[in-house]
Amino acid sequence: MESALQLHSYAVDLSCSRCGEKYEINSPHNYAACCEKPLVVNYSMNNGFDKKMLIGREQSMWRYTEMLPLMDEKNKVSLGEGMTPILPVNSYSQKFGFDQLFVKDEGLNPTGSFKSRGMSMAISKAKEYGVTECVVPTAGNAGGAMSAYCAAAGMKSTVIMPRHTPKPFQDECRLFGSELLLVDGLIDKCGELAVSIQKETGAFNMSTLKEPYRLEGKKTMGYEIAEQMNWGLPDVIVYPTGGGTGLIGIWKAFQEMIALGWIDGSHLPRMVVVQSLNCSPMVHYVNGNEAHESYGESKANGLAVPKAFGKDLIKQVVQESNGSAIAVSEENLLKTAQELSRAEGISFSPEGGATMAGLLELTALGVISKKEKILLINTGNASKYMDHFL
Ligand SMILES: Cc1ncc(COP(=O)(O)O)c(C=O)c1O
Ligand SMILES: [Zn+2]
Repeated sequence: MESALQLHSYAVDLSCSRCGEKYEINSPHNYAACCEKPLVVNYSMNNGFDKKMLIGREQSMWRYTEMLPLMDEKNKVSLGEGMTPILPVNSYSQKFGFDQLFVKDEGLNPTGSFKSRGMSMAISKAKEYGVTECVVPTAGNAGGAMSAYCAAAGMKSTVIMPRHTPKPFQDECRLFGSELLLVDGLIDKCGELAVSIQKETGAFNMSTLKEPYRLEGKKTMGYEIAEQMNWGLPDVIVYPTGGGTGLIGIWKAFQEMIALGWIDGSHLPRMVVVQSLNCSPMVHYVNGNEAHESYGESKANGLAVPKAFGKDLIKQVVQESNGSAIAVSEENLLKTAQELSRAEGISFSPEGGATMAGLLELTALGVISKKEKILLINTGNASKYMDHFL
């Protein structure tokens, strides 16, 4: 249980991720109006927050509360998200000869994916600002997560999802009492409708990186990776990328922990973006190839993001970390998710399967060595995708 102590956030303000212009933190913002780019939260770093202070704290992402932007704990909306396990990938390591292969199993979060982290933080912050109604465009999992956290916060919620999204994703939103709107097209089309609803009703728009706090929730994956690996980071992190919030968040956490003196900045992980060949704009962008406009659906629906608002931040993370970006086929990512689940007893979503499929391709290319310490992020479990398996 958490101590009764009222903990204090060291968040000070927000800034534009392109030009650095400052924005105050005491009222709700979407993105940076100056450059139409994502806003990021800044913290005062000489704050005396020592990693030893984590001992005995609650087993959720809120153990890093000083480095989260919530000012008053009474606004916290938590369903027990975070502190998901890092597990060895045993059978596949033997089969393919990996020395140190691990997976962070984000499928064990309250709504079955890492989206719970972002929404716990963003809905808590919305509550702090007095927001009573939220709207979100989603590829699936973020909608379910927002629905759950809005239910917990007593807020009205509207979720906009591509019509082809498997039924369990839709049912989850209805279960938690959201209004669900289905749109022909991908998440970018859903985003257009979200903007009109925001204008018409005044609902707060929770669109990926068009508000600054989901990123702060997702960055806790980075803090946990460091803490759970005893402050010795992996050599490589493989991340299934859609809008890129998790990837950007993990990297932000590493920068913050360097500033806090918690980790050694001289050996940070190489960050690897994996997408589906059906929708791989970030792989094209990062690798400096011309992106085309014909991006389609993916059975790994979280990866079907044709236009990532945070694309420059994604590219920056891959470049700064000396990482890479690769696209895998639909058939490969689905087959790998299924085979991995069977081999390991861990429920892998198609997005999680994509990380292993991408890793195998990158080891074949010699970009990653099988001797390295490698961490896959299984961003969700398989339960909502069962129609694609068996
Ligand atoms: C299971 C899963 N994996 C990965 C992603 C992509 O996440 P991000 O926006 O952090 O790139 C999503 C987003 O919908 C998802 O649901
Ligand atoms: Zn700017």
